[in-house]
Amino acid sequence: MIKKAIIPAAGLGTRFRPITKTFPKEMLPIIDKPCLEYIIEEAAASGIEEIILIISDKKAMIKEYFGNIFEYQGKMIRIGYAYQEEQKGLGHAVLMTKDLIGNNAFACLLGDDMFVSKTPALKQLIDVYENNNGTILGTIAIDKSDSNKYGICDPLDGESGKVLRLKGVIEKPDPKDAPSNLAISGRYILIPSIFKYLETQTAGALNEIQLTDAILRQMSEVRAYAYKIDGKRYDIGKKDGFVEATVHFGLSRDIVSKEDVKKMLKK
Ligand code: UTP
Repeated sequence: MIKKAIIPAAGLGTRFRPITKTFPKEMLPIIDKPCLEYIIEEAAASGIEEIILIISDKKAMIKEYFGNIFEYQGKMIRIGYAYQEEQKGLGHAVLMTKDLIGNNAFACLLGDDMFVSKTPALKQLIDVYENNNGTILGTIAIDKSDSNKYGICDPLDGESGKVLRLKGVIEKPDPKDAPSNLAISGRYILIPSIFKYLETQTAGALNEIQLTDAILRQMSEVRAYAYKIDGKRYDIGKKDGFVEATVHFGLSRDIVSKEDVKKMLKK
């Protein structure tokens, strides 16, 4: 069973400047609560009991807001913190949790990717992990022309269905080199030997230490699978994704009048 999750939230948020000069993008409010809170709720609803938030000194607001306990439907979720002082990339952020993870598989949820789905996105991955021992990569189908913004999965020949065994993954390939349209999108089940690969991982795309590159090297000893998440994803690290998420929750959360928001949008 997967009981621990990490949430990298130490990035610079350059795509969301100027607010991110001093304000963490993961704390941007979607109506009345930060994006990160929706993600923590998804983890809690997926059975996670302990969450490690990866932050930096510039993001103390995250610790002030969440503290060390998050109550979710009567359950107490423990919240811990790991610090990434230099923003060397997602892989490097994940490495900062090495001493806090131990020997069990764990979940990773990106702090700026929100999912809306019937079954929580992370729970879907956990269910897949129970039948497929290995790394599980949550994916969405993209237009191949966007492949240079994502990590892209390379399924083994002949694989079909919702869970695909992989022969490789590649970070931000040119559309002409993309092996599929399955983009890794913010939800992972990781196997602890990943840390061994992250420790020796050199910088890749964007000159950052990429988690995808370490997952690829780890595939020499650990199987990896792509799973297409059932649900809608909002990338709030992008300004248009943030607007989209705000509109979605404006139309679905019962703290605002759906009818009023609909009328306002029509007008
Ligand atoms: P992103 O690439 O979306 O975040 O990483 P970023 O680097 O902050 O964004 P831009 O490109 O500058 O606009 C996905 C998640 O990983 C975290 C981010 O905080 C985000 O939640 N991250 C990224 C880290 O924790 N550390 C890093 O060095 C990079």
